[in-house]
This record gives sequence, structure tokens and C-alpha cells, in this order.
Amino acid sequence: MKALILSGGRGTRLRPITHTGAKQLIPVANKPILFYAIEAIRDAGIKDIGIVVGDTAQEVKEAVSDGSGFGVKVTYIQQDEPLGLAHAVLISRDFLKDDEFVMYLGDNIIKSGIINLVEQFRKESPNSQILLAHVKNPNQFGVAQLVDSRVVRLEEKPATPPSDLALVGVYMFDKNIHTAVRSIKPSNRGELEITDAIQWLIDNNLKVLPHIVTGWWKDTGKVEDLLEANRMMLDTYETDIKGDIDEHSKADFKVVIEKGAVIKHSTIRGPAVIGSGARIINSYIGPFTSISSGTQVINSEIEHSIILEDCLIEDVGVKIEDSLVGRNAEVKKLNEKPKVYRLLLGDNSKVGLP
Ligand code: G1P
Repeated sequence: MKALILSGGRGTRLRPITHTGAKQLIPVANKPILFYAIEAIRDAGIKDIGIVVGDTAQEVKEAVSDGSGFGVKVTYIQQDEPLGLAHAVLISRDFLKDDEFVMYLGDNIIKSGIINLVEQFRKESPNSQILLAHVKNPNQFGVAQLVDSRVVRLEEKPATPPSDLALVGVYMFDKNIHTAVRSIKPSNRGELEITDAIQWLIDNNLKVLPHIVTGWWKDTGKVEDLLEANRMMLDTYETDIKGDIDEHSKADFKVVIEKGAVIKHSTIRGPAVIGSGARIINSYIGPFTSISSGTQVINSEIEHSIILEDCLIEDVGVKIEDSLVGRNAEVKKLNEKPKVYRLLLGDNSKVGLP
């Protein structure tokens, strides 16, 4: 069995962060989202992984390399235009051959992993297995309609959803999917939809097995979802302090401080992670916060946020909350007159002022 991870796409809902980087490489609990997918696949015993890459190919290749660091073998497949998930299958034919495979969207996180799902697929040998989850906003997903536990209809982002069962971004297929992706036409948004390809399987009397996910999963397409994923993953951590904390600082409850981080005159209240080489000086880092490596927080308070690498947060008079701050960003008080805001913001940035 093989795996296909989709790591292309433009990440429009996460701009400006995705102007300069792949959405699948944004860290959740200081680990790129994509790495959770690779590890879940490896843990299910699949070692041969194709990664479909787009505009951000270079960055993904630098982060994952040949996969040996994860104990897997990675083949990269270039998708020149984001023409849809079924299109990604279409261009991966040479890699997939006639093998069964798991398709995993690189921005999805499933807390419980996929070991059981792969086992079920191997045991029952359907032509496809789809994962479904009850959601509050089904119109933002592919939606399934079941009759007597059988999938009868699938629809991509329907205006009036027939159920609250969303397609989770993990699918399993046998070789019939290749005929399906060649047979469907682009949707209204101009993409070859995997949802339509699975509907083609159903219409052609092939067996599509539904599996309802009851545990936690997230499609991390938006900031709120990333913060929730961060919260959920940090909560699974145990305290592990490898960096330096001075005697004037406190770190309690599920705090991970990586090697080379320096904490002085500060309180870290977990769940939280502080990356290697980060410096937290005279500051408060509150629950559900991830500070990436090389970032400095000085005389400031941060809670429920993700701060990427090499940022400087200094003398900010009000607590920073619910925030996602991209690499190398600077937020600092100006000790000048007149009192002004001085902004250099990327396209699509958002600033909330007290
Ligand atoms: C894609 C699929 C959709 C699925 C979702 C899960 O949507 O098209 O059917 O429910 O992933 O994450 P997208 O995130 O590309 O809008």
C-alpha cells in the first residue's frame, strides 16, 4: 500500500502567512502540520509516500527531504496548477501504479491517527473508504448522505447540505479511482473534485465504505482552526524542560522548553512550548501558546497564540491573544513622541487594537 499526501494549494485563507510559505508547514505545537500526516502514515505501516507539491515545492522539499528522517521514502510529484484533489490523483498515476493507497490532505490533523482505518480497509477490501465527521458547518466541506450506513450521495460544499457529515481529508482507494478521475468533469470552481470521483465510484456500483470519525480532527485552513489544533496538540504534551530557566521564573503544567531556550524573570503557564534558542525575558506566556525557535519575547504577555521563528515581541503594553504571527515579524513599543502606530503589514494582514 502507498500514500499520497497533498501539499499544494495556495492557502488563501491564511494570508499573509501563506504569501511567503506553504500552509502545510505552519507549525502546530512547534511541528509543521505536514509532519503529523507523514508520521500518521508511517505509524500505519506505509513507507512509500508521494507528496504532491505546487508553488511551494522548494520549501516542502527542504523540510521533508527524501523522508529518511521520518523512516519513509518520499517521491515528489509536481502539480503546476491547483486544479483539484482528483487532478492530483490523475498526475500521480505513474507513482501509484495499480496499488491501493491512502490519500491524505496535508493540512488535516487526525488526533487518533489512521492505524485502525488502514487495518479496516485491508480487512474489508472495499474499492474506497471515506472518513466522515459530524460538523456544525457542513456547507464548507464535501458532504455525504447515508442510507442504512451506505453512502448514496456526495456533494462538494452544498448550499443546502443533505446531512451534517463532512468528508474528512483522508481517503483510501484501489485502482478504480484512476478510471473515476479520468471520467469526471471540472466543477463550478474549475477543479476536478475528489468528491465527484467518489460519486462516480458509487454510481458505477463500486463499494465505498464510510467510517465515521468520533475523535478530534481538523482541517487547518483558517487561523481559528490552527489555534484549536495547537491547543489540542499542546494538551497532549508532558512537562519537559531542556532549556535554561533562572530562579526568578516559573514554568508549570505541561510546559515544554526546548534545548537552548532561555527564560528569565518570566512565568510560563502551560500547556505551552518554547522553541530552541527562543528568549523569554520579563514576560508571561500563557496557556495554549507555541513560541517557535529564535523568537524573543521581552516585557510582554502572550496567550493562546502561535508565534513563528525569529520574531521580536517587545514592550507590548497589552496582552497578545488569539494571534498567529509569521516569521521574522516585529511587534514593539516605540518610545518616541508623538505617540503613533507605525505599521509595515503584508497584504491581507489583520491587526486588532484594544
Ligand atoms: C477539501 C475537500 C472537501 C473536504 C475537505 C476536508 O476541501 O474538497 O470535500 O471536506 O478538503 O479538509 P478544501 O479544504 O480543499 O476546500
